[in-house]
Amino acid sequence: MPGFELVGKEEREEVNQLFDDGGILFAHGFDAIRNGRYRVREFEKAFAEKIGVKYAQAVSSGTAAIKVALFAAGVRSGDEVITQAFTFIATVEAIIDLGAKPILVNVNDTLNLDPVELKKAITPRTKAIVPVHMLGVACEMDKIQEIATEYNLAIIEDNCESLGARWNGKYLGTESLACAWSFDAGKVIITGEGGMVTTNDEEVYKLAREYHDHGHEYNAKFPRGRDTHRIRGFNYRMSELQAAIGLAQLKKLDFIVAKNAENYNIYFEALKELSNISFRRIPNKSQPLCDCLIFQLDTAEKAKWVVTEMNKSGLGTKNVPDAIEWHFARYWDHMLGELGMSKNELLDTMEPSERELSRSVAIPILVKMDKTTITSNAEKLVSILKQVN
Ligand SMILES: Cc1ncc(COP(=O)(O)O)c(C=O)c1O
Repeated sequence: MPGFELVGKEEREEVNQLFDDGGILFAHGFDAIRNGRYRVREFEKAFAEKIGVKYAQAVSSGTAAIKVALFAAGVRSGDEVITQAFTFIATVEAIIDLGAKPILVNVNDTLNLDPVELKKAITPRTKAIVPVHMLGVACEMDKIQEIATEYNLAIIEDNCESLGARWNGKYLGTESLACAWSFDAGKVIITGEGGMVTTNDEEVYKLAREYHDHGHEYNAKFPRGRDTHRIRGFNYRMSELQAAIGLAQLKKLDFIVAKNAENYNIYFEALKELSNISFRRIPNKSQPLCDCLIFQLDTAEKAKWVVTEMNKSGLGTKNVPDAIEWHFARYWDHMLGELGMSKNELLDTMEPSERELSRSVAIPILVKMDKTTITSNAEKLVSILKQVN
């Protein structure tokens, strides 16, 4: 997720312009001294147009985006929200912060939500499903959509990691009730910290907008100081500074997606003939972001050995395994109370995900890597993998 690689001249120009225009960093008001520019609004509009949805609400982080989207979709205290065991911890924190109960479902060989397990986890208290498109690849959205329709459940996608990836030709995050996006420092495009909620549903959009901004209804009949309210909200607003950077970064998305695919293919071509590894299963209709290549060994021991050898050769890995503690619920025994499980139950429940994840290795694909470096890294990796039987 290489937005950070491309922060440069264009972002600096946007920020300089913001200061030349009066330096107003708040998204609202100060109308006479901001030279007519409202960058958060511009970023929302540009983002919605780019991915093809009606509404976008900028917020302060991806974590906030998940919480705001769930609130707008009607999730309240006591509801159950189903999500996957392999995700960044924020997905589960956002559910808990709303007073809802996260129900963790194992991942399958796509390393995303297992639709078979999803169906088994539904209860009369289930309100929503949060599929998380991890590390560039879509969840099996056709199966998940079918189950959601059968049980009348809302789908809120967590697409914080996979902006630019597609499902059946369309950008991910555009077909469900709402989607949460992140622009934190490690994401596809970055604003330092920041996020977005998108939807095609006007009421969901209005609730997201109100909830993220203390309940402000943006009532056109009144100035902001006299605005009306119908719900209690909070402050999850994005600043103009973040939006200025976002505007510059969004223009780089097509380049990022194309370059990722190019670099991914160099790696993939070098690895594809090896008979002792397999690749993460990519659902048929998923066109991945290609910012990460995941291969699997047949045992966890072999995967561990490969990672040790990779590190010795100066080759890094991504979240699997190098930040697995923050991305896999099996490690979250500090939240046993909220998850409603004992430590042993947590370990037992997560066993199918553990089997998949412990034998997986994720290689980061960067935009600025040149062909010579990728080829040389791929050669080093192939030579390590050839020693595994
Ligand atoms: C899948 C997923 N969900 C949510 C988040 C939270 O985003 P943020 O860091 O912007 O709060 C992240 C960020 O790492 C993520 O990867």
